[in-house]
Amino acid sequence: MVKTTDAGQAPAKPTVRPQNPRFSSGPCAKPPVFDLTDLSDAPLGRSHRAAVGKAKLAEAIDRTRAILGVPDDYRIGIVPASDTGAYEMAMWSLLGERPAEMVAWESFGAGWVTDVVKQLKIEAQVHTANYGKIVDMAALNYDHDVCFTWNGTTSGVRMPHGDMIPADRAGLTLCDATSAAFAQDLPWDKLDVTTFSWQKVMGGEAAHGMLILSPRAVARLESYTPAWPLPKIFRLTKGGKLIEGIFRGETINTPSMLAVEDYLNALKWAEAIGGLTALQDRADANAQAIFDFCDENDWIANLADDPATRSNTSVCLKFTDDRITDGAAFAKAVAKRLADADVALDIGAYRDAPAGLRIWCGATVETDDITAMLPWLSWAFHAEITAQ
Ligand SMILES: Cc1ncc(COP(=O)(O)O)c(C=O)c1O
Repeated sequence: MVKTTDAGQAPAKPTVRPQNPRFSSGPCAKPPVFDLTDLSDAPLGRSHRAAVGKAKLAEAIDRTRAILGVPDDYRIGIVPASDTGAYEMAMWSLLGERPAEMVAWESFGAGWVTDVVKQLKIEAQVHTANYGKIVDMAALNYDHDVCFTWNGTTSGVRMPHGDMIPADRAGLTLCDATSAAFAQDLPWDKLDVTTFSWQKVMGGEAAHGMLILSPRAVARLESYTPAWPLPKIFRLTKGGKLIEGIFRGETINTPSMLAVEDYLNALKWAEAIGGLTALQDRADANAQAIFDFCDENDWIANLADDPATRSNTSVCLKFTDDRITDGAAFAKAVAKRLADADVALDIGAYRDAPAGLRIWCGATVETDDITAMLPWLSWAFHAEITAQ
């Protein structure tokens, strides 16, 4: 790869624009075929407990299982409050039976650490790594319950695989997979709780969370009662037994049937293009276009140190040109210039992350849009270097 080292030489303003400039890391771009009229089959104004509503919710669960290859003996539930709701419901319902290993390498993982250490106040070992790095997952005690995030959305660092998690662990693994599901392989035999929301790789609407439980997680729910009170919105058992209805589409409280229809629409699109492999291939191609761009330009680099941990969804970038005087202001100005030109929206780094950019590469993004946007990034970089 030839590196561009003449960082001061400003390229001309590009003429080709991405057709869709939406590169936000959540809510993410809608599927390319999205059309509001496709939602006209939503049973609006009907009870979600009517046969038609329950059938839609069950269909969302069944199609999720089919696309993700979730084993038949794992439960899949639609729960309130998006990924946060699903993950916190799992932590509050399952943790405390044994010590926890809390793992974080960016902001969202750090949030789960706070939940356990400051709110639940259970015995926990905390393992953290700085932005761009990952915790040594082989060094954890899997006799404890392990809480971690598969893809760190704010650092662009992901688990390379799940081989470090032992099959014969005594503890449970609780995995926040919200920016990984549908784009990265999730080894179900290594995951006891998996959560995600609809607005990431599938480009669905925010609101509901998906909660996937292994048989071992269900066994824990049925054999252990936490010492703290659980609000109705977190309760997964009744009389010591799993509330099975939740995992058939009988939601705890009222869902948005419009959001359900939209998720179904996205799942059908995923099936039509070839399922999980096609979704993953699209994310890989998008991310690769950016990795290549970084290889070709010496003023920008991936925030993830180890190529094996580079996310193919939330690709995080840092500027490396030593002429930059104020990194945060510079990155903001580049992102603003691109937004003002309407070629890349919402690509500033997350507020707690190091200064830089974050470009969503999930399956709903078209590779042509990434490759059309990148020359604009060069243009904006050079314009800001000159302007500062
Ligand atoms: C890794 C991770 N966990 C949790 C969340 C919070 O998700 P939600 O807003 O769906 O609750 C996000 C949002 O971006 C995330 O990236």
